[in-house]
Amino acid sequence: TAHGPQPEPDPPVDFDFQSILGQIEEDIRPQIGRGQIAAYIPALACVEPGFGMAVADLDGKVYGVGDWQRPFSTQSITKVFALALALAQGGDDLWKRVGREPSGNPFNSLVQLEYENGIPRNPFINAGALVVTDRLQTLTGDASSELLEFVRQESGNPDVAFDPEVATSESDNGDRNAALAYFMASYGNIANSIPALLDHYFWQCSIEMNCADLALATRFLARHGLRADGTRLLPRRLAKQINAVMMTCGTYDAAGEFAYRVGLPGKSGVGGGIVAVVPGVCTVCVWSPGLDAQGNSVAGIAALDRFTTLTGLSVF
Ligand code: DON
Repeated sequence: TAHGPQPEPDPPVDFDFQSILGQIEEDIRPQIGRGQIAAYIPALACVEPGFGMAVADLDGKVYGVGDWQRPFSTQSITKVFALALALAQGGDDLWKRVGREPSGNPFNSLVQLEYENGIPRNPFINAGALVVTDRLQTLTGDASSELLEFVRQESGNPDVAFDPEVATSESDNGDRNAALAYFMASYGNIANSIPALLDHYFWQCSIEMNCADLALATRFLARHGLRADGTRLLPRRLAKQINAVMMTCGTYDAAGEFAYRVGLPGKSGVGGGIVAVVPGVCTVCVWSPGLDAQGNSVAGIAALDRFTTLTGLSVF
């Protein structure tokens, strides 16, 4: 093939995910409702508290507990899908415009951009995600629709949709993202019109999915680049590399703590969702909207912490 010989698929692994999830739900109950619901996007502020968790195995069988079928705002989790599509369609040239080191700064920080010449540290902070969406916009002409179509296909759920209220709310309160985009444009690191780019970014972040949808849609990262229909999205090398960037940068200035507690590639969003990947075994998605100071779900991290301790499914 174009990507050289590919090893055989991984054999199925036999875990009783349903009873493990039941155990986790019990263990983390005291954490539900802790943390702050994101209020800087007003449309997110009115979300009811709750907790849901789902595991998808390599064959696409889904196990879930709690609010695992309740849709929530995916927000920064979509940065994983944007990165995968931009690399799949445009290749490694992307890395000339965005780095892959943890930033040690909040997800919406501007501070490193000036002394690092408009090159964001990684594709998962907002600045880096804007560059990725800009690249995807150049490659496809309609970045947000391309993303929506991708997650619909991978989740098998044609009802996955944008939330116009969230997209508008973000746009109305988007000064910081606009500042990031204009600043990077001054270094020649944005190719498209900034208002159009911001629009695609806000609509991308507004996609609503539930834990089952997200666990299924992330499965290509557990399957070394294979899509739900068995076709190849990414060569194994790229799937491995995206997982690595999720491990080191997926939870912003809490990536060290996330590795310490969970020990898996993971990506969070301010809607309270976190996806995690066990390459060759399964994907996990957890949702609970109370966030810690770094913007990561408090109960979500506690649940993933329990998941990797109970199953031993961690890099460590
Ligand atoms: O651009 C923003 O600020 C939001 N649309 C996404 C931020 C986000 O989800 C960061 N995650 N923890």
